[in-house]
Amino acid sequence: MKKHPPIFSDFPQLAHGGDYNPDQWMHRYPEVLEEDLRLMDKANCNTFSVGIFAWMDYEPKEGEFHFDWMRKILDNLHRQGAQVVLATPSGSKPAWLSKAYPEVCRVNDQGLRAHHHNRHNHCMTSPVYRKKVAILNQKLAEKFGGHPAVKMWHISNEYSGECHCDLCHRAFQDWLKARYRTLDELNHAWWSYFWSHRIGDWSEIDPRDKSVDGMCLDWRRFVSDQTLDFMKAEIAALRAGGASQPATTNMMGFFHGLDYWRFAEVVDVISDDAYPQWKNTEEDLNMASLLGCVHDMHRSMKNGKPWMLIESCPDAPQWHKTPRLKRPGVYRNEMLQAVAHGADAVMYFQWRKGRGGMEKFHGAVVDHEGSENTRVFKQVAELGSTLHKLAPVVGTSTHSDVAILMDWEVRWALETSQGPLKIEGENIYLTPVLKAHRGFWEKGISTDVLESLSDFSGYRMIIAPQLYLLKPGVAERLRQYVEDGGTLVLTYLSGVVNESNLCFRNGFPGGGLRELCGVWAEEIDHLYEEDSQEISSLPNNKLNLQGTWKTGRTCERIHAEGAEVLATFEHDFYAGSPALTRNQVGKGSVYYLAAKMDETFWSDFTQALIKETKIPRLLKSEPPKGVHIRNRCDEEKEYIFIQNFNNHPVEIDLEDLSALCMESGDVVKGTVSLEGWHTRILCQDL
Ligand code: GAL
Repeated sequence: MKKHPPIFSDFPQLAHGGDYNPDQWMHRYPEVLEEDLRLMDKANCNTFSVGIFAWMDYEPKEGEFHFDWMRKILDNLHRQGAQVVLATPSGSKPAWLSKAYPEVCRVNDQGLRAHHHNRHNHCMTSPVYRKKVAILNQKLAEKFGGHPAVKMWHISNEYSGECHCDLCHRAFQDWLKARYRTLDELNHAWWSYFWSHRIGDWSEIDPRDKSVDGMCLDWRRFVSDQTLDFMKAEIAALRAGGASQPATTNMMGFFHGLDYWRFAEVVDVISDDAYPQWKNTEEDLNMASLLGCVHDMHRSMKNGKPWMLIESCPDAPQWHKTPRLKRPGVYRNEMLQAVAHGADAVMYFQWRKGRGGMEKFHGAVVDHEGSENTRVFKQVAELGSTLHKLAPVVGTSTHSDVAILMDWEVRWALETSQGPLKIEGENIYLTPVLKAHRGFWEKGISTDVLESLSDFSGYRMIIAPQLYLLKPGVAERLRQYVEDGGTLVLTYLSGVVNESNLCFRNGFPGGGLRELCGVWAEEIDHLYEEDSQEISSLPNNKLNLQGTWKTGRTCERIHAEGAEVLATFEHDFYAGSPALTRNQVGKGSVYYLAAKMDETFWSDFTQALIKETKIPRLLKSEPPKGVHIRNRCDEEKEYIFIQNFNNHPVEIDLEDLSALCMESGDVVKGTVSLEGWHTRILCQDL
């Protein structure tokens, strides 16, 4: 596998560091900045995101700019040999701006304009805000675009939220005009004949009407697009100021509000913020596999290109419900998991705890105590030295035979449609996606996480849990994929609506999927918790799947129309009807799973699919529960990460693997033991 260039072109190391906010200290504690430089070296930190919330120090009064202070910071960091990701400070605005131009503050869905307070709360449409941000960004680029420390731009911070001001509503109406052209088209797409909600004039459109589910979906698309447009304008201003460094923005995992697939197309490098809660219970395995899934998506967003874990916490975030200290091995595993899944940067929020403000108790590398003698500081330094030894991993990536689809528009359509069962504490879309992913995660099989518009070629298997909304062309592309020999797994609630949230006619799964799957899903049954339903495999089925499994609370009554039945329902009036089918199409096959299922089923089903499709595994036998095995490769070497997410030691038979331990340099083979919450990284020639 060809190596990718390092994320900072002249720095072939894993980046290690975090958000650095010297602007909180320089006014009254300038000596702290000197001390920071000393400590950065000791912490083995080499990369810092700077200036994320520094607007007030750049422009304390409208039109009065100060950049010298930042130049000094950058000079010092450069002398230190550090890499800087310089931020645009649009995530938090100065009070003078809100006072002079109230339009920059958001309006809520009750029509109330917010006060200046807090952050991440500006209107994305406001021309004034866009102009002020553009002026500052351009000046930052002119001043620092040529600074040798500045290796990347950090665009704003965790974009999120929506605004209901007149400007936003008008922009939404314009966005709709561009999408639908005529009111007739719009009314059809929204089925607004319902309850006499037909729109007679574009100005009547009000996105707060939650009864028009087609509009709800379009509003989400618009909010995401408008935010993306804002980000593009920020980047354009940097380019106009002459900055040529790559740009990134910090995503928030599966954050529901933005279609990150579209953001991924615009940024040069993918970055993510992750703040998992570890509880020392079985739930930790769910958390570890969830993180693995999120990381897989970030690696997949740019076809395997290394990404950055740009924010994480070396200890407990103060906003967790229970800010439990991160146990030493837990911290190390969390950070190395990102590297195992393709990150070339491990960074924290934040470098030093501030004395005040909402985040004064948020874990950081440097504590209020201020020295290098804290437990957290020492563990960060230790990880830094491990990351240094892992430099050969930089630019390597992972080949996946399996892809799981996770599509924001599908999610939004499911969330905005009344009918499909929503269970408290679960996300109707993500939960099944995560269950499917976990089946592979626990077997040490690498999965990419794609959207329905991604390129499917090159994968042996695609799993698309609840492909509820079908974008144009997707059914045709899936058919081609299967005809060419791919294995596709679809589930209940697939092909239900088109891109406008309108139900397909002529039977579900619609839009061409009925013929592809060889099944007709006639009815959908949502069960009470007290109900029970099971599915059982049929004897001698082609997948060699054997067992009886309890279903979740959503089951479909389906008919096989050419597909072979592999398992059937056990109870109730649809006892005996198909629950799992397989349809041969061209050189490939399509599985249709008619019920929501839990981890146990997914584990057995995945196992059978892996066997059937002959997907190669790193180790032939299944790793012990809670242990994940991953690799990253280039053309010559393979780096193998073995991670134990259990609280107890495990033994792993490495079979015929014989590799070098990246930390000790020892040869490792045979059966190795791994303490609880521990990671080993091995290297072998290919
Ligand atoms: C992130 C944010 C940071 C900091 C951090 C605390 O969401 O980007 O600025 O607030 O949370 O966990």
